[in-house]
Amino acid sequence: MEIQQLTFYELVGGEPTFRALVRRFYEGVADDPILRPMYPEEDLGPAEDRLALFLMQYWGGPHTYGETRGHPRLRMRHAPFTVDRAAHDAWLRHMRDAVDSLELDPKLEKQLWDYLVFAARSMINTPE
Ligand code: HEM
Repeated sequence: MEIQQLTFYELVGGEPTFRALVRRFYEGVADDPILRPMYPEEDLGPAEDRLALFLMQYWGGPHTYGETRGHPRLRMRHAPFTVDRAAHDAWLRHMRDAVDSLELDPKLEKQLWDYLVFAARSMINTPE
C-alpha cells in the first residue's frame, strides 16, 4: 500500500487557514501608512485573493494561482513598488500578527514564519 504524505497545506487546515491568515494581514495593511499607498487598487480584496491563492499553491494546495496569474515571478511583479527596509519591516509586522492569530502547532508555525521572513527579504528591491 502506498503511504500518502500530507502536504503542509493540509496539515495547517487547508484553504480556511490561508484565507484567515491573509484576511488578518490585509486588515493590518489597510491601516498602514507605508503599505496602504503602495496598493494600486482602491479595493484590497483582489490583492488579498492573489496572496491567498499564491500561498495555498506554494504550500501544496490547489494551483488556482498559476492557472489565473501564470508563473509567480514575484520579484518582477514587485519591481514597480519601492520595497525598502521600512516596507519590508511593515509587511513582516502585519504577517507576524496574522501568523500569531492562527495559533498553529509551533513546528508548523516556525516553518511558515521562516519562509515568510526569507521571502520578504528576497523581495527588497530598494536598498538604503
Ligand atoms: C517585503 C515587503 C512586500 C511588500 C511591500 C509587498 C507589496 C506588494 C504590492 C504593493 C503588491 C501589489 C498588490 C496586488 O495588486 O496584488 C503585491 C503583490 C503580491 N505580493 Fe507582495 N509585497 C511584499 C512581500 C511579499 C512576499 C514576501 C510575498 C510572498 C511570500 C508576496 C506575494 C505577493 C503576491 C503573490 C502578489 C500578487 C502578484 C500577482 O499575481 O500580481 N509579497 N505585493
